[in-house]
Amino acid sequence: MYSALPRPASFAPRGPLRGSVRVPGDKSISHRSLMLSALAIGESRVSGLLEGEDVLATAAAMRAMGASIERSGEGEWRIHGVGVGGLLQPQNALDMGNSGTSTRLLMGLVASHAISATFVGDASLSKRPMGRVIDPLSLTGAAFNASPGGRLPLMVRGICPAIPISYRLPVASAQVKSAVLLAGLNTPGITEVIEPVPTRDHSERMLAGFGAELSIETGAQGVRHIRLHGEAELKPQTIEVPGDPSSAAFPIVAALITPGSEVTVTHVGMNPTRTGIFKMLEAMGADLTYSNERVVGGEPVADITARHSALKGIEVPPDVAPSMIDEFPVFFVAASMAEGRTITSGLDELRVKESDRLALMAAGLTAIGATVDECEDGLIIDGSGGAPLPGGATIASALDHRIAMSFAVAGQNVREAVTVDDVSPIATSFPHFENLLGAMQDGGAV
Ligand code: S3P
Repeated sequence: MYSALPRPASFAPRGPLRGSVRVPGDKSISHRSLMLSALAIGESRVSGLLEGEDVLATAAAMRAMGASIERSGEGEWRIHGVGVGGLLQPQNALDMGNSGTSTRLLMGLVASHAISATFVGDASLSKRPMGRVIDPLSLTGAAFNASPGGRLPLMVRGICPAIPISYRLPVASAQVKSAVLLAGLNTPGITEVIEPVPTRDHSERMLAGFGAELSIETGAQGVRHIRLHGEAELKPQTIEVPGDPSSAAFPIVAALITPGSEVTVTHVGMNPTRTGIFKMLEAMGADLTYSNERVVGGEPVADITARHSALKGIEVPPDVAPSMIDEFPVFFVAASMAEGRTITSGLDELRVKESDRLALMAAGLTAIGATVDECEDGLIIDGSGGAPLPGGATIASALDHRIAMSFAVAGQNVREAVTVDDVSPIATSFPHFENLLGAMQDGGAV
């Protein structure tokens, strides 16, 4: 997946950021579009698909299991599915590259088919815990042979018919929820996921959109019971993927911290299970305005304009974490340039993302001159009050796209350039990020 050679890049301020930009399609929705289309009989069409390495890994895996998946234009894809229950035995190991979402969701799909599959990935993915998916899927009768610590490479031996389960999520994870629901598609009876803390609900929305029988009941203290009736029949769909709010967070924070900036990001997904970052930035005093609000393919979408703002430190309530889980790295950059103290907690999950994001952000921000205290489950950051940080350091991106992009953003408000040792991981989720940053520096739209 990645080119063998690391590609370093340096980032330094070049004045205000300006223009109107569009970020790539939502990564979570892109993965699910391909997976569900590959299980529907007939032709589905997807536009705005994120053509990053993670999503291409999902496309390759679905092809290896029998679906026909073709690119017909930029972001335009046509998929002919095999039907629920119709996945074929892949001939080779499925290479998941850097993608945790591909791995965990596909483990769910394979679990209830009479096939077996071996999953392999890069050095970062091979360190990430898969036990959280193996545990519930084992209850359905599927068998697993994993590397020590429940890690990749691992083999899944699916079972058909699988046993329907009722599973209460022990960690707030949309990937675990989705893996169980996807296994339920080809399982007779009702598969239930009980979700004490809400996480992104793209799987639920899209399963219903493809015609699966799914009910959601919200009980005491907001606990959600999601029930899926298998064996489902999925009907092909036409899907327009909204822009990824997780990707939009990078140009938005860049505009907020760079004096004189005003940037509009168009067509951003505004699903409430994803917008915690915008709410927390607004709580810090960010000048964000929303326009052109509409619904695209069952998901709310808006254009967001961000202007340079005098940010103030805040305490982030831990229950907001799932709705901004991927945005903490760039949020920490904003906090490091705000006035006063920002306190975050309840973020243990950040230690098992593409990298240990608490450790790497604490080390990287400290290296560029920020004041950061790393705690077990969060960071405490004393900001510069808007002043540029010293910069002048080289940051290890450690195969983590969001670490690389966060320090590119930090490089917009420093006295000396910030170097990222390897920016190639950015291609997993935001292939044109550097062009887009350059265009904003040049003051133009992309
Ligand atoms: C995702 C869920 C989240 C998120 C990841 C994408 C998904 O992971 O961090 O980038 O598409 O379901 P967890 O389920 O591990 O929180």
